[in-house]
Amino acid sequence: MTLKRLHCVVATGVLSALGMLIVNAAEVPRISKSAAGGQLIVNRKPYLILGGELGNSSAGTASQADSILPQIAKMHVNTVLMPVAWEQIEAVEGRFDFSIVDHWIDVARGQRLHLVVLWFGSWKNGVSSYAPAWVKKDTKRFPRAVSGEGDELEILSTLGAETVKSDGRVFSELMKHIREKDQEQQTVLMAQVENEVGYLGRGRDRSEAANRLFRSAVPPDLIRKLQSRQDSFSPELRAHFNAAGKTWMEVFGDATDEVFMAWNYARTIEAVAAQGKKEYALPMYLNCQLPAPGEQAGEYPSGGPHPYYLEVYRVTAPTIDVYSPDIYWPNFEYWIDRYKFSGNAVFVPEARLESAPYNAFYAYGEARAFGFSPFAIENLQSAADASGSGPTIKDVYEVLSSLSDVLLAHQLSDGTRGLLLHSNSPRATRTVALGDYLFEATLSRSWPAKTPLTDEGAMIIVQSSENEFYIAGTGLTVSFFRNPDVDTAVGRIESVEEVSRSNGNWSTLRRLNGDQTNQGRQLLMPAHQVRVISGGSLRDTEERSRSLTEGLSRRRSLTSLW
Ligand code: DGJ
Repeated sequence: MTLKRLHCVVATGVLSALGMLIVNAAEVPRISKSAAGGQLIVNRKPYLILGGELGNSSAGTASQADSILPQIAKMHVNTVLMPVAWEQIEAVEGRFDFSIVDHWIDVARGQRLHLVVLWFGSWKNGVSSYAPAWVKKDTKRFPRAVSGEGDELEILSTLGAETVKSDGRVFSELMKHIREKDQEQQTVLMAQVENEVGYLGRGRDRSEAANRLFRSAVPPDLIRKLQSRQDSFSPELRAHFNAAGKTWMEVFGDATDEVFMAWNYARTIEAVAAQGKKEYALPMYLNCQLPAPGEQAGEYPSGGPHPYYLEVYRVTAPTIDVYSPDIYWPNFEYWIDRYKFSGNAVFVPEARLESAPYNAFYAYGEARAFGFSPFAIENLQSAADASGSGPTIKDVYEVLSSLSDVLLAHQLSDGTRGLLLHSNSPRATRTVALGDYLFEATLSRSWPAKTPLTDEGAMIIVQSSENEFYIAGTGLTVSFFRNPDVDTAVGRIESVEEVSRSNGNWSTLRRLNGDQTNQGRQLLMPAHQVRVISGGSLRDTEERSRSLTEGLSRRRSLTSLW
């Protein structure tokens, strides 16, 4: 892995600006939201989660921490998302056992890793498999959701009062325990409440309690709150909402069953999350199983925190800080962009490991996520072996960890962009604008045959000052243009340097030019590596617009990374 740069002075400036943010006193991690999105603040500094989520059966014993965490620590991952199951910590009602969680926290600390705990309580992927046996067996006390055919499902009903009470109690014990053990050191940064909730099956829960509630009017408070936030409605909710109605059908039309379930899950989760937050106010988020292409509600968990009816959650579950998509489907940009809305901070807790090296650039650069986390990160080695010589998320995280202070500082000021390109993208080039420049990317090709060298490419661009940019990426050839909407000057690459960074200091390894930059015309990002390259500086070669260039610096620098 190599880094390349043009001007180190700018990077040094950014570091000292960040340095001013360092304050001694510890505070509980929190989400800071702004118009540009949101960031996770840890010990008063923005923190970029270079994450990895563990497979479901990889954190169920203490000894797994000893074998798995040291391996993950070598992957430039800084935060591990680990399941904590209700059945694990309360196998016997009222007796709590945190020994496994404690060991994971201790080992993570030793490896200088942070943790996010995933609360597998009443629901995991729609069903209730992680509830303890004493809950599963007592269907009277812990009633099940009922299908349209009248069958009791393997899904705890959201309307079981004892379920909500017991889940809330064990979650609050967990949060209290984490506070007592960890508040000083803050190894644990956030908690996910339940996992990919929603009703699986046609329609909605048809238990007696659910039917009774469904026959009564929509709570006027829900209608009023929704009405006051119509500006934030998704197109789906806008198309269905009728504030003048009374019954669920009248108010939500064809979306009724899904909205009814969303409201019920949101109420239950709010009750559980609020109890936990009272004990330890870590940021709490919900993750969502998104529809596979063509799937209908009920095939995917209906009433989960999908973008469609998310406003129902937002008015019902104020304790939840962040709504997150788990993105396994090909249209990564579409789904992450749907979670980029005012009041949310973007965090992708689960993503496909194989496409993660590309999608990560888009997540941090374009969606300005504070975190990204491929699923089953412990399988990275075997996944990389199977896929051949492509870049891995480890390579990407290595680059991003050297840039994270610069990236975090500029996410807030609209100073970042990201771009993905696939061989089946509708267009062969994609262009993004940042600062006074356009960055036009195509997939890498061989020279002179011009055959495609890769099926995927991606990059992130950070504008570190008016005249300097960092670019990191893979599999792309990038051309630069002055943005003609700014002026009619012409910009060209002046020089390219390979740089590396150690302890915050950049150093030049070599200058690149000639064949390595297509004779100074383009940045060439190798197809099967993720490394950092400088783009050199851009020079105004012609002054066509006197009035505009007068106000501009004569030398434009551009540092790019791949
Ligand atoms: C999404 C779930 O949230 C994870 O726990 C895991 O089951 C993955 N799906 C498996 O692909």
